[in-house]
Amino acid sequence: MNNPLARLVVLISGRGSNLIALAEAARNGAPYAIAGVISNRPHAAGLEFAHQNGIPTAVLDHTAFAERAEFDRQLAGIVDEMAPDFIALAGFMRILTAEFVDRYPGRLLNIHPSLLPKFPGLDTHARALKSGESEHGVSIHFVTGELDGGTIIAQAKVAVLPGDSERTLAARVLEKEHLLYPRVLSMLALGQIALGEDGATVVRTP
Ligand code: GRF
Repeated sequence: MNNPLARLVVLISGRGSNLIALAEAARNGAPYAIAGVISNRPHAAGLEFAHQNGIPTAVLDHTAFAERAEFDRQLAGIVDEMAPDFIALAGFMRILTAEFVDRYPGRLLNIHPSLLPKFPGLDTHARALKSGESEHGVSIHFVTGELDGGTIIAQAKVAVLPGDSERTLAARVLEKEHLLYPRVLSMLALGQIALGEDGATVVRTP
């Protein structure tokens, strides 16, 4: 018997290369479908990709909101209308309120370009270079109220090479991002991994 595809909503703010990787994996048989893309920026390039590929989109411009809580309430309304099983933040440059995050336990994920807990926040590649790391990479984690906190699900590493610039290092990490995010979402969609009831562990479900 074929299970229905899990529904994935992707939240973006910009380029959308992770969105594209997720959509390509879905086209190639991953066990989820992209039910919608939501951007907080009206001109995010990823929206164009979604339009061209027949993926429903919504824009909620954060600059129109005086209060974060109200933005998040409206965002939750749009997300819920798209009826996702999972919500993937993919370059979504907003800090979410606890009220929003707590609505989707075990269903809200983020991809972050560092080996967390190292380098939460911005400019991760420059910071990794500056601190002389020998390896760097990407983390995928469940989202909590803490910036780039939350239970880590998977990481992929790259070596930092002599002569690396922020650009070359970012490009090498991005290649790993594009492989890892679809993989993790596929495992979640199949129920092969899930957030543990204690909120602190990732468990394999039977
Ligand atoms: C990626 O590096 C992701 O890890 C980070 O923001 C960037 C988004 O890139 N959170 P893109 O919009 O998916 O191309």
